[in-house]
Amino acid sequence: MSAMYKALVAEENEQGQFFCTIKMLPLSALAENEVEIKVSYSSLNYKDALSASGNRGITRRYPHTPGIDASGVVVSSSVAGFKAGDEVMVSGYDLGMNTFGGFGQRIRVPAEWIIPLPKGLSCIESMMLGTAGFTAGLALTMMKKNGQSPEKGPILVTGAGGGLGSLAIAILAKAGYTVIAASGKHKDRDYFTALGASGIISRDQVDDVSGKMLLRPRWAGAIDTVGGNILATAARACQRHGNVAVCGNASSHELPLTVFPFILNGINLLGIDSATCPMLLRRQVWEKLSDEWKPATLDKIADMITLEELPMNISKILKGEIKGRKVVKIGD
Ligand SMILES: NC(=O)c1ccc[n+]([C@@H]2O[C@H](COP(=O)([O-])OP(=O)(O)OC[C@H]3O[C@@H](n4cnc5c(N)ncnc54)[C@H](OP(=O)(O)O)[C@@H]3O)[C@@H](O)[C@H]2O)c1
Repeated sequence: MSAMYKALVAEENEQGQFFCTIKMLPLSALAENEVEIKVSYSSLNYKDALSASGNRGITRRYPHTPGIDASGVVVSSSVAGFKAGDEVMVSGYDLGMNTFGGFGQRIRVPAEWIIPLPKGLSCIESMMLGTAGFTAGLALTMMKKNGQSPEKGPILVTGAGGGLGSLAIAILAKAGYTVIAASGKHKDRDYFTALGASGIISRDQVDDVSGKMLLRPRWAGAIDTVGGNILATAARACQRHGNVAVCGNASSHELPLTVFPFILNGINLLGIDSATCPMLLRRQVWEKLSDEWKPATLDKIADMITLEELPMNISKILKGEIKGRKVVKIGD
């Protein structure tokens, strides 16, 4: 009989409703892939909650184990690049989408998705950062490639209280930028100040409904995690030649914008996709995150939950109620 492992399983009942339970699964439930990893930690991302609640744009087949992030130790490998005992991490690609993900004690993945745990990061720190930290780091990398620098002025971060937003603040501050945090949780000033934000404003202040196509410049660039009119406001109030990194759609997938910020102010919208980022660039970003850009405030942003506490936290993240990041302890 196949050995068993513990995992969160999302499935659909006869009424078409999705629900999550913790189950023991046989190792034979995992796809045949090159490297098997014993997962120590995962983390909760918005995308995981969508997968766990039946979003077929992310996960086509159920029952399914979500979890787009995982760190742990190689158990077995059929390729030369990895051997049993190696400490590794995986984030993005198809992990947790249509390949069983990090919310289980084992994953099996192609070798090309795996990064050896960077020096300077422990297994747990790699998941405090996880996809959220990687996406913030990728956004900053692309902005810098496009001429953004601290001297040009402050960077707006929207959805600042979420996982990606919180890490974007901490990483930007570590890299020497002045940060304006826009959040529905703006009253929690101590939190944003501790992460390194100098300005803290409410969501309403970045949700301009004046109808003006261009606004008075208020920032030199932005990392947006929410989309919709807030992203449009970020672009309309960005100073000339600034970069607006488009990372998420926590508010809306729509973008009510004219061409004027682009053709009159030279604003650049930078599309950020962590899942398909090429491996060379991925390693460069993780290198920065493990060293120069590694926030000293990770323990203020992330706290730990168990596999059993995941279903409740999945419901909370879908309502925008989680502050910062949840690292999930998976291993014994
Ligand atoms: N492009 C990529 O590769 C990539 C990678 C990771 C995540 N993402 C996307 O980035 C977004 C954030 O991900 P996350 O994991 O950080 O999620 P999260 O922890 O839930 O953070 C989302 C934050 O957005 C804000 N928000 C929620 N609902 C809102 C609404 N209706 N209007 C305005 N703001 C709202 C809230 O922040 P405040 O309360 O502070 O306002 C919330 O904490 C998601 O859309 C996710 O899919 C994309």
